Amino acid sequence: MNETIVSCSHITKRFVSRGRSTNVLSDISITIRAGQVVVIHGRSGTGKTTLLQIMAGLERPSTGHVEIAGRSVEKLSAPELAQLRRQTMGFIFQNFNLIPSWTAGQNVEAALIHTKLSGPIRRQMVRDMLDDLGLDERIDYLPSELSVGQQQRVAIARALVHSPALVFADEPTGDVDPETARAIIDCLVDLVRDNGATLVVCTHGEFLIGTADQHYILDDGKIVLQELSKDLHV
Ligand SMILES: Nc1ncnc2c1ncn2[C@@H]1O[C@H](COP(=O)(O)OP(=O)(O)OP(=O)(O)O)[C@@H](O)[C@H]1O
Ligand SMILES: [Mg+2]
Repeated sequence: MNETIVSCSHITKRFVSRGRSTNVLSDISITIRAGQVVVIHGRSGTGKTTLLQIMAGLERPSTGHVEIAGRSVEKLSAPELAQLRRQTMGFIFQNFNLIPSWTAGQNVEAALIHTKLSGPIRRQMVRDMLDDLGLDERIDYLPSELSVGQQQRVAIARALVHSPALVFADEPTGDVDPETARAIIDCLVDLVRDNGATLVVCTHGEFLIGTADQHYILDDGKIVLQELSKDLHV
């Protein structure tokens, strides 16, 4: 049985801002085992990004408990959590979060800055990663000089270049045509599976149905369906 890499128990999330309170997630419990590809589906506004950010320790739940790689997120200090994220996780943001004044290569290299690797080794890893994603000729381009799908692939390269054990992808095929979306998903899943890593994807898209080991549907902040693939090793 594979070890548990992320576990959320009884998560709720309520945002309180400007005198208004918004209940977004209610009583979510999810267990993700190392090496799984997990997809969380749901329509816009249903809480997918909020849930993914809580699972990655980027957002705190209002109540409930999150454990990542055997460590309780609520017991970690901000620097400990940042270190856990840098060493263990890659996050592909829905809006990419690329630094606009940095080239594609510099954006990807950012994920390696905290490692002890030398500059030449880091840059070779960046070139190899961008090459895997078909972007070797765009290494010196700024995000504004790239198409949306290319920016998305730079964000994927940045999330994967340090070979994290745990990869979160928020709508990784957001604004691209179906053919490019399929290619991005196939590439992402292949890279993650080759590394033996775990992938958690939130999406409206249908591309991961049939590929994922676990499939959740989120509706109005609640898990309304959980399916496990038949050949899951649990
Ligand atoms: N900081 C915030 N303050 C108040 N409400 C918020 C905040 N962030 C998110 N929400 C609310 O939480 C709900 C869920 O947002 P979330 O971004 O998680 O949805 P989503 O499922 O990822 O949607 P999409 O598919 O459009 O990306 C929304 O209704 C939104 O208004
Ligand atoms: Mg979202």
